[in-house]
Amino acid sequence: MPPPSTHGPGFILTACQRKGGVGRSTLLFNLAGALSRPAGSSVGRRVLIVDLDPQASITQICLGPEAVDTIPTLRSVVGLLSDDFLDAPESLIVPSGLAGIDLIPGSNGLSRYNFPDPESTGDLQEALRESLRPLRSQYDVILCDTPPSLETLAWLPAVAADVAVTPTPAEPLAVQELTHAARFLERARWARNPRLSWLGVVLTLYQPRLAVHAAYAKALRETHGALVLEPTMPFNVAFKECMVARKPLAHWKPRTAAAKAMDAIAVEILRRVDLLRGQGQAQGQGQTEPTPTPTGETSSDSQTSPSNPVSNLETLRETAA
Ligand SMILES: Nc1ncnc2c1ncn2[C@@H]1O[C@H](COP(=O)(O)OP(=O)(O)OP(=O)(O)O)[C@@H](O)[C@H]1O
Ligand SMILES: [Mg+2]
Repeated sequence: MPPPSTHGPGFILTACQRKGGVGRSTLLFNLAGALSRPAGSSVGRRVLIVDLDPQASITQICLGPEAVDTIPTLRSVVGLLSDDFLDAPESLIVPSGLAGIDLIPGSNGLSRYNFPDPESTGDLQEALRESLRPLRSQYDVILCDTPPSLETLAWLPAVAADVAVTPTPAEPLAVQELTHAARFLERARWARNPRLSWLGVVLTLYQPRLAVHAAYAKALRETHGALVLEPTMPFNVAFKECMVARKPLAHWKPRTAAAKAMDAIAVEILRRVDLLRGQGQAQGQGQTEPTPTPTGETSSDSQTSPSNPVSNLETLRETAA
């Protein structure tokens, strides 16, 4: 993975998947590791993790389990969403304890912002986007961890982000959620963020020797082509152990197969973002306003719109072929 010659302006990536326990936090934590310390290079990307999950999983990994109780709620990401917070967004950034990775901590207090109907939350919808805007110049990548829901705490980063990924085990219940993820991202595009692109599905906890995983992966690739990233995040005990070590694999055990799998995912994500930037889709370029649809669901028009996530992926498929 070639290092950047300078840092920023970065892209914002969010995770979008309603199913819980799919390895989203593990994926993002290790993605931050792979980006900040790429294999074969001493120069990494500057990464900011924004923890929007009330479980505050990544915050606990980075800062320790007591952090969620000791950090005042307004000194967590809640500050970015609260009218009572009057400081600069930068003031909420803390070192993660890992070289090249900073963090805006999560908090249990986030849960009261997870309104079920995000479009009815008014100005709150822009709060994260506005807060992250000045931070783009300081980071190469801003990663938003989200809770297992498609409500306001997933909506805010979808409004702020350039790209979304959907971590999905190759199993029925998680795969069935892909439709909801697609509709949710489409809603966010139409309502607030036309530049948002669905970068793809990352197969997580993947065990190719399990017949069900192999069958679902094959079917997904046949049906959705390049929507499914070629590199997968394998099921590997190293991903559990690195949580105990509180270090991503790229920092802790960079020569393991699991670390190399993460490096491949990071490379593919950067490649896709570069392709989108070339098309003027990522990083706020090419913001053509789509015609809103009343339901927010994918319409036949949006299937052919040059700036919608699905057609972005069609283009990616052609370019990648
Ligand atoms: N690739 C992997 N191999 C083995 N275990 C994994 C892998 N990825 C995640 N896990 C384990 O699966 C469990 C769930 O992971 P994680 O917390 O990252 O999921 P999540 O989708 O963020 O969950 P939640 O929906 O609660 O936020 C954890 O015990 C984690 O250690
Ligand atoms: Mg999580």
